[in-house]
Amino acid sequence: MKGIILAGGSGTRLHPMTMATSKQLLPVYDKPMIYYPLSTLMLAGIRDIMIITTPHDMAQFQRLLGDGTQLGVRFTYRVQPSPDGLAQAFLIGEDWLEGAPCALALGDNLIFADHLSVMLQSAARREHGATVFAYPVRDPQRYGVVTFNAQGRATEIIEKPEKPASNMAVTGLYFYDHRVVEFARKVRPSARGELEITTLNQMYLEEGTLQVERLGRGCAWLDAGVPDSLMQAGMFVQTIQSRQGMLVGSPEEVAFRMGYIDAPQLRELAQRVGKTDLSRMLLELVK
Ligand code: DAU
Repeated sequence: MKGIILAGGSGTRLHPMTMATSKQLLPVYDKPMIYYPLSTLMLAGIRDIMIITTPHDMAQFQRLLGDGTQLGVRFTYRVQPSPDGLAQAFLIGEDWLEGAPCALALGDNLIFADHLSVMLQSAARREHGATVFAYPVRDPQRYGVVTFNAQGRATEIIEKPEKPASNMAVTGLYFYDHRVVEFARKVRPSARGELEITTLNQMYLEEGTLQVERLGRGCAWLDAGVPDSLMQAGMFVQTIQSRQGMLVGSPEEVAFRMGYIDAPQLRELAQRVGKTDLSRMLLELVK
């Protein structure tokens, strides 16, 4: 399975912070935002990753992440000329995908849970259909929202409904089978002019092959799209890291634990980040 991180968009809800830099490069506590979805994809066992950015931000992402060798993965960079919707990612990546199944992670989403790797790897192993994750929120009208029937089966997903049928929002992490490009080609622009990921998910749902996994209380899902949620995400990471002494969203740690890199390579990565707590915590892992 391959993976795409969508790190474009105009970030207008974070202006003026994003007037001169990409939203997905802003700090979430001690790391650039993109580290979090990157760690998620790597934890799912995905090592071939395309990063989609705006034309003017691409060079900065390349400077931060390089070609991925240092993490034992491969990065490919592509540009999305204008933010025409999340489902466009698969059209941009079509030739690179070469018919492979693909996961999509939104560059501003952070998921943290016990046994997350087990859940992600099982979604990545599903050969037919798609998997999305639903999470209870207080403000579902900001998201794609799942309607469930009396038996608890998902029957519909609506993008930003005025009157949400449930409080279950679809998170920004999606797993699709090899037909995803075929489905993406059929998506037509919505009323707001975007190729909606919700339309794509609805197609799998209507076919009866969309798995909606519910995330519960023991799981944190945060998106960092507005100042409040950016601050909350930072505070969340700071709280866990300082209390437990464990890293959240470190691609270096994931690379080491997944066996993509060895101890000397991790030591080198720790040295790269200088005299920081992050460096100290990475060195602890080698011990
Ligand atoms: O966060 C989860 C939600 O993400 C889902 O519940 C919704 O169904 C889904 O549509 C999406 O909603 P948002 O309103 O949060 O999407 P937004 O336009 O903010 O885009 C999400 C990220 O993707 C953001 O970091 C910018 C980036 N992006 C967005 C668009 C539209 C791109 O890179 N390219 C794009 O064309």
